[in-house]
Amino acid sequence: MSDETRLRDAMARFGAILYQRGLAHGTAGNLSVRLEDGSILVTPTNSCLGFLDPARISKLARDGTLLAGDPASKEAFFHLAMFEERPSARAVVHLHCTHAVALSCLCHENTANVLPPLTAYHVMRVSRLPLVPYHRPGDRALAAAVRQVARDHASMLLANHGPIVSGRSLEEAVYNSEELEETSKLFFLIGDRPARPLTCEAVEELERVFPS
Ligand code: 13P
Repeated sequence: MSDETRLRDAMARFGAILYQRGLAHGTAGNLSVRLEDGSILVTPTNSCLGFLDPARISKLARDGTLLAGDPASKEAFFHLAMFEERPSARAVVHLHCTHAVALSCLCHENTANVLPPLTAYHVMRVSRLPLVPYHRPGDRALAAAVRQVARDHASMLLANHGPIVSGRSLEEAVYNSEELEETSKLFFLIGDRPARPLTCEAVEELERVFPS
């Protein structure tokens, strides 16, 4: 089986898992992976992550030209921007998962990091989470805004929209996305109670021992 076929199958499999776990609904969200030659596979526009047909997943050149499959996600340009700015990234996951989207709708004083380091796994898998200003889905200005923060951040939160999370594999990007949604859920569960996030020393130790 070729690498591309294997990755197409993996996208359908992980898409179905995200859908079954309630992290994707309707036609919201999109997934991408980078192939060895720099082209990418990305989910087709208006497709449901729960029912992807591997053969119809879109294949795009680095400049966004459609090479194969159905018309690509309207967000393909921010996926391409993430890959361009993050050479180590092999996959990007964008979801409209409930708790992270709720977090994206709040007023934030510190837009450089909108989630406190509540747990070790959040620091290990997500780290700092900047808020990207709102732009309409599919707007090239959104891809430009994503590009601006992508070099320094593997994950980010689009205002009034949802998270974008990258990883060194599709598996890693999916697991990082799940961690981000779970930490957002914890954030709302804790609510106004006085929380005790990890100390700066604990965060630094995690970043040293588990570099992203
Ligand atoms: P697409 O159906 O074009 O992938 O768009 C869905 C989405 O999540 C927009 O942000």
